[in-house]
Amino acid sequence: MCGIVAYIGTRQAYPFLIKGLHRLEYRGYDSAGVALLNNDLNVYKCKGKVSDLEAFAEGKDKEGTLGMGHTRWATHGVPNDVNAHPQYSESKNMVIIHNGIIENYAPLKAELKKRGHTFLSDTDTEVLIHLIEDIKKNENVRLGDAVRIALNEVIGAYAIVVISKDNPDEIIAAKKGSPLVIGIGENEFFVASDATPIVEYTKNVVYLEDEEIAFIPRKGELKIKTIKNKAKTPYVQELEMKLEALEKGGFDHFMLKEIYEQPRSIRDCMRGRLSSERGIVNLGGIIEYEQKFLNAKRIIFVACGTSWHAGLVAEYLFEELARIPVEVEYASEFRYRNPIIYEDDVVIAISQSGETADTLAAIELAKSKGATIIGVCNVVGSTIPRTTHAGSYTHAGPEIGVASTKAFTAQVTVLTLMALRIAHRKGSISSSRFHQLLSELESIPAKVEKVLQANDKVKYIAEVYKNATNALYLGRGYTFPVALEGALKLKEISYIHAEGYPAAEMKHGPIALIDEEMPVFVIATKGGSYEKVVSNIQEVKARKGKIIAVVTEGDQVVKDLADYTIEIPETDELLVPLVSVVPLQLLSYHIAVMRGCNVDQPRNLAKSVTVE
Ligand code: G6P
Repeated sequence: MCGIVAYIGTRQAYPFLIKGLHRLEYRGYDSAGVALLNNDLNVYKCKGKVSDLEAFAEGKDKEGTLGMGHTRWATHGVPNDVNAHPQYSESKNMVIIHNGIIENYAPLKAELKKRGHTFLSDTDTEVLIHLIEDIKKNENVRLGDAVRIALNEVIGAYAIVVISKDNPDEIIAAKKGSPLVIGIGENEFFVASDATPIVEYTKNVVYLEDEEIAFIPRKGELKIKTIKNKAKTPYVQELEMKLEALEKGGFDHFMLKEIYEQPRSIRDCMRGRLSSERGIVNLGGIIEYEQKFLNAKRIIFVACGTSWHAGLVAEYLFEELARIPVEVEYASEFRYRNPIIYEDDVVIAISQSGETADTLAAIELAKSKGATIIGVCNVVGSTIPRTTHAGSYTHAGPEIGVASTKAFTAQVTVLTLMALRIAHRKGSISSSRFHQLLSELESIPAKVEKVLQANDKVKYIAEVYKNATNALYLGRGYTFPVALEGALKLKEISYIHAEGYPAAEMKHGPIALIDEEMPVFVIATKGGSYEKVVSNIQEVKARKGKIIAVVTEGDQVVKDLADYTIEIPETDELLVPLVSVVPLQLLSYHIAVMRGCNVDQPRNLAKSVTVE
């Protein structure tokens, strides 16, 4: 969480910092701040969003060709002006911005207090900059070395940038557990939490590794050391990201743009990997580890949030097609449960950002037990793909809206390809079924396109239910994870309480909630459990609940029962999640807009959760 940017070079830093912070706002938006170094060290920071910071800095001295900026997702200390970053050192000559948590901040703070330090904020971050200054003074070392020595005393996660009035020609940056990228321009350097603020200035970047510290000069070469003082050669990579992918492209919100991008993102995800004509599924990234899949007695998915829902869909797919037992774990539970992991387990970590702290910790745990770790991630070059043995990118392009949409369908697409490939290699699926599913999968983007044409109807339904206080989502089999995802989308962006349930489980509790006020969204598409879901709909109707059903095109039975229906094109039951989730995404979007919610940046949430 938290977004970090910094600049050193020949141009004015402020415009880059502000633009960069807007791009990183998905990482947190509790408060924002900048520090600019000219002859003075000017710090402007306030509670609220980056736009509030801009208003606050209006008319103030924003000169400086060296500076840094921060957008915060609060961990220690409430979101207010004082706790906003940058944080000052004791003398106020140094400032720091930080993403992560310093776990041992309390004893460090107590020790520093004894030595006469006074603290203004409640943050762990302020403790770190005080410690750095204390070391610099007492050990009489250069700024970078003081940072390095301090980081050896720190337990926890950090991505930090430090600047000092006494060092007007250098930025110090370091990371452990939270990401940091350095862009290399002509006589200038950029630093950011991800590459999105950098891409329009340079394509050459260095991703800092854990426990590395970067000495970034105004002139000359970037130097990297480990915090144990071992020199490292910077590994410069070329960015593939396109600038247009980071703009709203005429849509009111990123979320809507991303929902509409799905025909393209699903296609991109399959591009070069699937040919129904030739009967081929290829996932180059995992080919070397295929034997591990074929020998696996079990697959364990670890993920959080929407990615966990993609794992649930994959459970049905892998068990049905590849006949391998599957467990789907919340990464946060798995990591602290002392789980039983065998060397012949394949652990698949699913993550849009590739940075989620709990998922990373789950990976490390499974790795230490000797399991094979496969990543399914969206952000190229992020930490998870670099930590796993092998993996497949989802190629959905940057997802900026905090509520995940196109990343989910891309994850499900990759996992479907994976299950099909393994099933085919294992011989657990007939050749005709394999071919049938390949060609059906190829037709999914066009079917999603068709669902998007129902937008006006979905908007109409949103109008009817926008004032609901509770909602229930029901699905069965492959559509049960879709029900969970539909409920999550609604609650996270519209703040309406919503629950997803397996349709048949409804009678073991949630049915007590049903009355004429309760909208019940049911995914009632044709498939194995269709008749049973129809019975569940009857049960809701009998209690005067309102039914809004996602149905297969042409279905009259549910239409006659439901208050509203949204039709989706017919597809194979295994692929229904890819199509049926789309109207639910649209519905949440419209309800949230109608309720005046901030769709792209819902309260209290962040897109990339780099703290546990
Ligand atoms: C946060 C986001 C969710 C996301 C989850 C997991 O909660 O708001 O949209 O599903 O983290 O993130 P990941 O990047 O690992 O998929």
